[in-house]
Amino acid sequence: MKFVSVDAWPSEARVDYRPELEAGNVLFFPTTPFVFSEESQSFLRGLDFAGGAIHKNIAYRPASDRVTGTEANDSQAERLRGIMRDYSRVVVAFASRLLPEYAAHWKLDYASFRPLEEEGRDLPLNKRNDLIHTDAFPSRPTNGDLILRIFTNVHPSKTRNWVVTDPFLVLAEKYARAAGLDEIAAASASAGGKLWNQSARLLKTMGLPVVPRSGYDRFMLRFHEYLKRNTDFQEHCAKYRFNFPPGSTWLTFTDVVPHSVLSGQHALEQTFIIAHRSLATPENAPISVLERLCGKLLVERNRQQQRVA
Ligand SMILES: [Fe+2]
Repeated sequence: MKFVSVDAWPSEARVDYRPELEAGNVLFFPTTPFVFSEESQSFLRGLDFAGGAIHKNIAYRPASDRVTGTEANDSQAERLRGIMRDYSRVVVAFASRLLPEYAAHWKLDYASFRPLEEEGRDLPLNKRNDLIHTDAFPSRPTNGDLILRIFTNVHPSKTRNWVVTDPFLVLAEKYARAAGLDEIAAASASAGGKLWNQSARLLKTMGLPVVPRSGYDRFMLRFHEYLKRNTDFQEHCAKYRFNFPPGSTWLTFTDVVPHSVLSGQHALEQTFIIAHRSLATPENAPISVLERLCGKLLVERNRQQQRVA
């Protein structure tokens, strides 16, 4: 894998960065390629978490223009919402220029602010960021689409320090079976599995808090945890380290690129769900890799078409 540095943006000639990203590389902008004011950055860095009105995980939902992770209902909360909205908008505008083929079909997910120092956090294993993992969202199944995340380091002096390893394609060949791919594929192809999924979708349309998950999404959640629990993998896998400097921006498919964050504080992030059909090399996508490995469909094809419609 590579860290691909983009030193001149916008560039004269259009470059299609999709193959680089889909192969499991990280696209790195030493200078953040959009405007996000120093005033907004210092407001975020100065947020006061004492008292519990503002939580340590701040998420902005662009579709509803809402911030979660704050119970404050005052001018500070309103300003926070405005800043997260601005960040989300400038990132989306930048990404639309950088990756127009994705923009034509993507689904805008949440933006977040990560205010805490990552080093030394006391978290349960499944939430630890310092263990190498691929991302999967328990509450938002992708049905085979990909998770693209754009990060910005807004700390005034500290780097954000990542370790990544070989892409999903390599890890899946080694570990997908041990992580339970064949059992999950068989269960989701069974009559009982299909019936459960249909029922879950029906319950969801009735407003019940049920998350209908394809076999693909069940596997990706399992794989996230499998990698974190596999101490041999954590110790011995190939490691590529990169320290993202203050003021830099980077993007990668976090379900294709296994990653961990060792240290760093004050990062912003915007997530996009990228439609499988807009990929330049769909054969590299985790869904394609896994279906080749197990010889079964992990997402019902009619669901996949609805998903990207
Ligand atoms: Fe992650």
